[in-house]
Amino acid sequence: MRLDTQLKNIRSFSYKKMHLDKTGHGFDHIQRVVNMSEQLLKYENADNLVTLSAAYLHDVADDKLSDDPAALEEEMRTFLQKNSLTTAQITKIILITQNLSFSKSLESDRLELSLEGKIVQDADRLDAIGAIGITRAIYYGGAHAEKIYDPAILPRQTMTKKEYRDLSQETIINHFYEKLLKIKDMLNTETAKRIAESRQQVMLSFLDSFKREWNAEK
Ligand code: ADP
Ligand code: NI
Repeated sequence: MRLDTQLKNIRSFSYKKMHLDKTGHGFDHIQRVVNMSEQLLKYENADNLVTLSAAYLHDVADDKLSDDPAALEEEMRTFLQKNSLTTAQITKIILITQNLSFSKSLESDRLELSLEGKIVQDADRLDAIGAIGITRAIYYGGAHAEKIYDPAILPRQTMTKKEYRDLSQETIINHFYEKLLKIKDMLNTETAKRIAESRQQVMLSFLDSFKREWNAEK
């Protein structure tokens, strides 16, 4: 099977699984991660099919989005086999989807990602910062009934997986201090680090304006 046919089929599979998500993981997020992965691939000597497949599939079996991630993973595996990907390619893709997330990267026994995984992780993280990142944080916060801001709730310093998922004491603005502003120092590739610089400025400028307006500054 031709590579473009394989990718077209993987794109449709991902679309079917993701397009109904209303918490910031919709297919628009997936397509941006694929597009950014394509940009990063230009500067890295990585396997294009593995990288782009993992980009399309990285959120499909997320345990935040599904009650049965193991079943979705199995479905993914069978689907990739039907599309003539080799066992080695499938293993690499699934391993990436299992180890990409921010909460996974906080675990002490985390696995070193392959170059393809590092590219998709960078693309996924770049989509959480800058103007798109601000929009997604507000969208997610609204969907989870978070407060916009509360100066009495301080950003959490420690971030275990459990704490990261406990939204009862979370505010949208704190999410920037707990996660989004730290992303620029967690990127793998030089290209992503460069792209992150201007996106960081966009967030800092937003937070600065937000606080000044909150305090009724003229
Ligand atoms: P992904 O799985 O794509 O890496 P997440 O599931 O962690 O990302 O988050 C999806 C989007 O929602 C991101 O843009 C992230 O910044 C935002 N988000 C996650 N948790 C919160 C939160 N507690 N408050 C506001 N935004 C959040
Ligand atoms: Ni994602």
